[in-house]
Amino acid sequence: EQSERDSLFIVSDFAAKHFQQRLIAHEQGSIGQSYLKQRGLSAGTIKRFELGYSLDEWTDLTDTALKAGYKQQYLEASGLTIVKEDGKKYDRFRGRVMFPIHNVSGRVVGFGARTLKSNDKKSPKYLNSPESDIYHKSHVLYGLFQAKQAMRMQDMCYMVEGYLDVLSLHQGGIENVVASSGTSLTEGQIKLISRYTQNITVLYDGDAAGIKASLRGIDLILELGLNVSVVTFPAGEDPDSYIQKVGDTAFKAYLQEHAQDFISFKTSLYAKEAAGNPVKKAEAIKEVVASISKIPDAIKRTVFFRSCSLIFDIDEQVLISEYNKMHLQGR
Ligand code: UTP
Ligand code: MN
Ligand code: MN
Ligand code: MN
Ligand code: MN
Repeated sequence: EQSERDSLFIVSDFAAKHFQQRLIAHEQGSIGQSYLKQRGLSAGTIKRFELGYSLDEWTDLTDTALKAGYKQQYLEASGLTIVKEDGKKYDRFRGRVMFPIHNVSGRVVGFGARTLKSNDKKSPKYLNSPESDIYHKSHVLYGLFQAKQAMRMQDMCYMVEGYLDVLSLHQGGIENVVASSGTSLTEGQIKLISRYTQNITVLYDGDAAGIKASLRGIDLILELGLNVSVVTFPAGEDPDSYIQKVGDTAFKAYLQEHAQDFISFKTSLYAKEAAGNPVKKAEAIKEVVASISKIPDAIKRTVFFRSCSLIFDIDEQVLISEYNKMHLQGR
């Protein structure tokens, strides 16, 4: 007896193959192909990540699937088909480049879909599959299936924001890379990574707002006992745009030169902001101590308190007593 989940896996696999076929063999597919080419992606990358194209038509996927015997119930439950109140059906994804999202064992569980229009305010840049019985966003990382072997070999995982970041780095020979794809990092995602490595390097998009926003998510990585480094990029660049701009070799060198331990990074960031302002400095120290206090390993904490005391030019004992105070408050 086939379960609901089995049926969802099967219809998702059908859809992925359909979109791939449309990209490669349909006359409209050339629109998707030239977009991907313009983004610098090779045929090999397109194939490895099973990229596809959804035709700019209302019911291409739905019609094809129904005709092939797939049930509307599962097309709807997977979010591929949207059924209106009057019963009219249409495809969720139309005229977009399709990025199938795989679970750890390589089965398609959902899709990300990018519009080809560069500045269309009417439709979002990316559309994503909704949650379903097989797609729990907080427990999926884009690219993990293709990255896991390299993650184990290199004993490290690069975390990026977007689909294109994963694809460009992978194509450039950096295969140990995954994306949280728009959601903030969850415990479930970090635990997935920790099956393969305890070391994460976060590659931020190069804008200050993005950095500040991700600081909290990184505390979660520390809390789970993993080691975190960060690399920032020049303003306006993301890992994809930067590797496409400078090339693989220079990009790898950039990562080596700019990887910074997260606590040191955060400490310097806050110390710089607080320079010459004692009130701000006190706040900054509390902020950093809060991060350090997430680290379960006592020896690691001690090392970080020492380096933090140097950066802030403050006695280590002050930091430790601040830590003890927080601990008593249950942080
Ligand atoms: P970005 O805006 O940084 O996009 O969003 P990007 O990945 O660099 O895409 P390109 O280079 O413009 O094509 C980062 C990630 O956030 C999610 C996507 O997963 C995206 O890859 N996102 C972004 C959405 O889900 N919806 C959106 O409308 C925008
Ligand atoms: Mn869920
Ligand atoms: Mn961004
Ligand atoms: Mn980006
Ligand atoms: Mn980008």
